[in-house]
Amino acid sequence: MKFFIDTANLAQIKEANDLGILDGVTTNPTLMAKEGIKGHDAIMQHYKTICEMVDGPVSAEVFGTEFAGIVEEGKKLAAIHKNIVVKVPMIKDGIKAIKWFTDNGIPTNCTLVFSAGQAILAAKAGATYVSPFIGRIDDSSWDGVQVIEQIVSIYNAQGFMTEVLAASIRSPLHIVRCAEAGADICTCPLSSILGLLKHPLTDLGLQQFLSDAKSMQ
Ligand code: E4P
Repeated sequence: MKFFIDTANLAQIKEANDLGILDGVTTNPTLMAKEGIKGHDAIMQHYKTICEMVDGPVSAEVFGTEFAGIVEEGKKLAAIHKNIVVKVPMIKDGIKAIKWFTDNGIPTNCTLVFSAGQAILAAKAGATYVSPFIGRIDDSSWDGVQVIEQIVSIYNAQGFMTEVLAASIRSPLHIVRCAEAGADICTCPLSSILGLLKHPLTDLGLQQFLSDAKSMQ
């Protein structure tokens, strides 16, 4: 399973990248706005900076909701860097645009996906990635990981090439369950990635080893 970081914060991207286990980055308008980025040029520059930091796919989301606008924006985003993936919402014009990008060799990430039916449409349109938001599904009192399992099983049965990118990850347990469910990628906040490191027995064991090592010096 690949690890993406779900942030537009450069310090966090650097910290995850320095671990050596980062495969890509996803952003969205909320995450970009959180960094105080304003205006077309600043937005484009920020994506370029991220692409120069991480050697892997970087999802950049369109702001438009109608076909022509999504295509125009997507073309400009894709021109920033070879690793840009155009992130398109799961709406009717979004599906049309994903098909257009597929036919024109531009990689896409279909976002705001909450059901297996939506994931089937994204795959039919040729999306490179599909992003089911598992934390937000949990918030609606359904099991987000179950939706991942269902999508993985449908894609395998049908031979769809779209990669399942589990998004809206809220905890290390989400990552473990998505890995078990066969997700191709998890896009996570830095805290969830670092959370995977934690175990009290590791801390206790290390304390003991360090003290025994010291006694031998
Ligand atoms: C997906 O690519 C989104 O950026 C993201 O995972 C949404 O997560 P949230 O529900 O924590 O906002």
